Order: sequence, then C-alpha cells, then structure tokens
Amino acid sequence: MKTRFESAIPNDARTVAYIVDTDSLPGDLPASLKDGAGISRFTGKAGQVFEGFGEAGGKTRRTVLAGAGKPDANDRQAALEKAGAALVAKYLTSGESMLAIDFGTGSLGAQDAAAVLTGARLRAFRWDKYRTKMKDEQKVSLTEIVAVNAPDGTEAAWNDDAAAVAAGVEFTRELVTEPANIIYPESFVERCRERFEGTGVEITVLTDEDMKRMGMGAILGVGQGSARPPRIIAMHWKGGGDEAPIAFVGKGVTFDSGGISIKPGAGMEDMKWDMGGAGAVAGAMLAVAGRKAKANVVGICGLAENMPDGNAQRPSDVVTTMSGQTVEVINTDAEGRLVLSDSLTWTQQTFKPSRIVDLATLTGAIIITLGNEHAGLFSNDDALAGELTAAGQAVGDKIWRLPVNDAYDRLIDSPIADIRNVGPRGAGSITAAQFLQRFIENDTPWAHIDIAGMVWADKAGATWDKGATGFAVRLIDRFVRDTAEG
Ligand code: BES
Ligand code: MN
Ligand code: ZN
Repeated sequence: MKTRFESAIPNDARTVAYIVDTDSLPGDLPASLKDGAGISRFTGKAGQVFEGFGEAGGKTRRTVLAGAGKPDANDRQAALEKAGAALVAKYLTSGESMLAIDFGTGSLGAQDAAAVLTGARLRAFRWDKYRTKMKDEQKVSLTEIVAVNAPDGTEAAWNDDAAAVAAGVEFTRELVTEPANIIYPESFVERCRERFEGTGVEITVLTDEDMKRMGMGAILGVGQGSARPPRIIAMHWKGGGDEAPIAFVGKGVTFDSGGISIKPGAGMEDMKWDMGGAGAVAGAMLAVAGRKAKANVVGICGLAENMPDGNAQRPSDVVTTMSGQTVEVINTDAEGRLVLSDSLTWTQQTFKPSRIVDLATLTGAIIITLGNEHAGLFSNDDALAGELTAAGQAVGDKIWRLPVNDAYDRLIDSPIADIRNVGPRGAGSITAAQFLQRFIENDTPWAHIDIAGMVWADKAGATWDKGATGFAVRLIDRFVRDTAEG
C-alpha cells in the first residue's frame, strides 16, 4: 500500500473518507449523507464505517465516514488505527484503487493522522503470491491511500517514523506467513540479508560449523534431525553511541514437528509459525533501523528446524550447551528452550547487553492460560517487566506477567544432567521460563515473552486480517523509544 500526501482531493478520487468522532458528523455534509448516517445508526464509534454516494464535478463520488470514537478516550491511538484499518478492510478488494482520506475538516493532530494511516497500511497486508487462481473480485484493488489536508507534521511523522514501523510489522508477517519449505534457517538469513541491505544494520551469521566450534550442543541437537542446518543471525543497529545494547532474542524454529516426540498430525501445519519470535525480532530491527532510532539495539534469531529423521536426537539424550551446563532431553518437542539457551549464551558473551528480552512461541500452555488476548511475561526484574507491559499497552501488544521463582526452578532439576528440558505437567509455561533463566548470567535484567497465542490469528482483528499478526514488533519498537532513546 502506497501513502501519499496532497493539499486537495485529487480530481480522480472517487472514494473520499472522513474520520469522525462519536456524535460529531462534519458540519458541511450534504443532508442526504447526514440523514443516511443517522438512518444507518452510524454514530462514529471506533471502527464503524458509513458509505453514501453523491455527485462531485459531474462524477459519482463515494463519501465515507469512519468512526474514531470519543476524542478523550484513553485508547484514542488504537481507535484511530481502527478507523484507518476499517476503511481499508472495506475497500481493499472492492474494485476501488485509490482511497482519499480528507483530514481537513476534523481536529486531529499529526500523531493522530499518522495513527489512521498506520491502521490503514497494516490492515492492507496480504500474501497472495501462491494463489494463482484468484477470481478478480478476490484480488486486491486498493493500492494507494491519499492523505488530504493532513495536519502539519503528519508527512514527517509518517515518512521518518510510522512508515518504518509498519514496514517492520509487514516484514514479520511475511516471514511468519511463508511456509516452512520456503523459510528455513538458511533462507530466513537470506531474507534478512536482502531486507537489511542499505539500512545500516550490521549482520553476523553463525553456521552449524561455527556452532560446533563454540560448543552449542543444544541448538545443534534440535537441528540434527533435519536436512536443514541451524543458523543464528544477529542484526545490530548502533544508533546509540557506546552504550551497551539492549538485546532481543527470538525463537526461530522454522518448523516444529516435535521431532521424535512427534506432534499429532491435526494442526501440525501451524508449526510453520514457530519462528514467530524470530520473525518479531527481525521485523522490530527493521523498524528501529528504518526510523534511525537513537539507541543501541541488537536482535538475535536462533534458527533451527525440528524434524525426526534417523539422526534426530532422542528423549534421554544429554547435550552440552555453550554455557557448559548439560541438559537431559526428556521431550524433543520442548525444543524452543534448547534453541534459545545457546542463543542466549552467545548473545551475552558477544554483545554484553544491558538488558535481554527473548520472544518465543514457547508453550501451548500459555494459550491455555491467557488465550489469544495477552502474551505471557516472565522476568527477573520488576522495572523491566513494568516497562515492557507499559510499552505493550501503549501499542496494543498486550502482555501479562506470571511468576518465576526457586520453587518452580527446582522442577527442572535432572537426575543425570544439570537441567531437564521439561518439568511436570503443571505450570508448563513457567518451567519453560525457568529453563531460560538458567542461561542468564550475572543477574542481567531479563524478560521472556511467550507469544504462542499471539503470532497467528484465526480471525481478523482491528489492524490485521486472519493469519500472521506481527505481534510484538510495535511493543519492541515502543520499548526502545521509551527506555533507550531521548
Ligand atoms: N512450538 C511449541 C509451542 C506451541 C504450541 C506454539 C502451540 C504455538 C502453538 C513448543 O515447541 C512445544 O511443542 N511445546 C510443548 C512443550 C512440552 C513438550 C513441554 C507444548 O507446549 O506442548
Ligand atoms: Mn515443540
Ligand atoms: Zn516449538
């Protein structure tokens, strides 16, 4: 979706939208539209859309009202995004190619207008490249949003900032949507190399050979049943001088069959998005670099495919991690924590981060706990947990904290090695977090966000269609803004 800025409604615009607050229709609307809106019970609630037709310059024009709710609502930004998104949802495949949004009549500020444009762009994401038999009416027709009379500063807010964040979300959705025969560890790395070309982000890649040299027995163990060798990619944005970076570490299991502890067939295709943490990290790095954040940020993705071939690791195997700690692999389907353990150790030794946040589709149990409304948050640091929660709240990527402590930690002691990779049946998301915490050195402030319930949506939401949501890109971006810049 392209976005451009104009000072008047283009002559060829046939669809013109206005953003309307609750119970405050624009004064100069023709009576037919005003009455029409009333008859249709359009009140300007966030996400409501009303469409009417009239004549302008001898041509039929569609006038659209998009509700943005009450101006003093505390979720105002979300409501404005919803308004932009609702417009795009309505016209994306309507046959219309250009949507003009006239901001001239309202009282929105630059950030408000940028929020509308953000919602519009995010809702436009599609991944139709493998659909060769789409009917015309299924195809995207809308290619351009024209912001007319946008408030002063909107264009800069968009070009220097909001568009970069939207591009980050789109990149994450792309990576998550691609099937597992297309995105595997090496091709994930390639996709990142291409996308980060010219952004100023410094890329480092570890191959399986490097991993052997460094003693990364855990990620290698996960990858050894697959024909696709594992990789780790680091994307470093140095916008903040000499300060220690914040590190974001993503689980990138490009397909999780479960390995020898194989998953049931029904729904296994979902496990193409078991790289959602890595996808969020890559997209967030694109956002942060794209808007030239004044912060030092590094994103690390631990990439492996979990498959069950004759060389696959077995339940009972003991592997030695890069940290030196040994792990008894009880269940080969608890592979995310294995991939992350070596990724976390390498991250700390290489980048000496001030704070570490990992993101992972780590457990089905978190979906039982929090459903698809919040991701799970685990942390050894109250300040960090608070800042992440606030950042998520501000952008609509909601997270909810659960405990970590010694009592849970004991549940993953092993009789034969230092740690076992699964605990008892209860508290599965917490024991998974405890496993990760064993790889955090020197009490570095650390948080783990279990996003298993948030990466993929079975139905459309405010700013996403069903499918990949791009969850956590904006949370990370916002957290960087609020804690490391300024
Ligand atoms: N990738 C899964 C977790 C998952 C499940 C993500 C459903 C998204 C949707 C993870 O690797 C896994 O298999 N976890 C196991 C852990 C168990 C073996 C202790 C699980 O949740 O069942
Ligand atoms: Mn698994
Ligand atoms: Zn997994």
